[in-house]
Amino acid sequence: MSIQTVSVIGAGQMGNGIAHVFALSGYDVLLNDISQDALNAAVAQIDRNLERQVSRDKISAEIKAAAMSRIRTTMKLADLGQTDLVIEAATERESVKQAIFEDLVPHLRPETILTSNTSSISITRLASRTDRPEKFMGFHFMNPVPVMQLVELIRGIATDEPTYKSLLAVVESLGKTAASAEDFPAFIVNRILMPMINEAVYTLYEGVGSVDSIDKAMKLGTNHPMGPLELADFIGLDTCLAIMNVLHDGLADTKYRPCPLLTKYVEAGWLGRKTGRGFYDYRGETPVPTR
Ligand code: CAA
Repeated sequence: MSIQTVSVIGAGQMGNGIAHVFALSGYDVLLNDISQDALNAAVAQIDRNLERQVSRDKISAEIKAAAMSRIRTTMKLADLGQTDLVIEAATERESVKQAIFEDLVPHLRPETILTSNTSSISITRLASRTDRPEKFMGFHFMNPVPVMQLVELIRGIATDEPTYKSLLAVVESLGKTAASAEDFPAFIVNRILMPMINEAVYTLYEGVGSVDSIDKAMKLGTNHPMGPLELADFIGLDTCLAIMNVLHDGLADTKYRPCPLLTKYVEAGWLGRKTGRGFYDYRGETPVPTR
């Protein structure tokens, strides 16, 4: 089917990035959230990120204006009924996602493709609670969405081939590259990335290295653009912990046990950049290690 209108549910870091890339690629975007403040903040963020692309000569001011004009916002799930593709990018909690799908599905046309940007939750299980498991897929973007090339495509057990092919074409139309993953806990990227981040936290916890030396070692020793602790702060320590718990519970292997220090940071509310403190303190001019 041809896809022209896209709904994005959740106006957070991922949702605004997804809305940004779809609008820039010519899709009409409807951004939904339960908070008007979150919607306003997302539109302002998209504007800033597009402006950054204008100032670096990646796009023209006209292209930016056209992209902004294609984005509309709504707080009502019922308004999403006429869209061709829905991308759920709400909080990474299964109960929240299930509740959204339950409220949304009665408003959708039968042919609408329903997807989740979940970074770790079972696509088959999410799909099974909807009226369209064959038209349901995992559609996993990386952060920051406007910059990262990859999109993970995850088929649930019931996903049909036309749905998969449609999403593959959508990924290409965004100028991004798809990698297909089977529906097992945390798929490919987070199955590999999160244990590495968790191991970096253990390395800190056991005193093998300081925040500074761990990040320096991995940046300069393995050419990663960010050190693992800096990256954890960027992703959000609550998200990192949630994904480790999905791996630990879903694969029942002690090698995935979350580091107690990661749990402690999350319990303190030190969730990384978004709360101003994590493995680094971001409240001053430059980030300062907190250990
Ligand atoms: N919107 C638009 N453009 C953006 C942007 C945004 N939000 N953020 C950065 N950019 C652009 C900049 O304009 C710049 O563009 P040019 O190269 O054209 O000049 C480019 O990205 C690089 O940005 P900066 O120069 O500001 O900063 P940098 O060189 O330090 O790079 C980074 C920043 C791209 C984030 C880089 O540090 C990086 O790649 N980090 C690793 C990110 C990563 O691993 N992401 C995946 C996380 S895992 C995940 O997302 C999955 C999950 O489920 C948890």
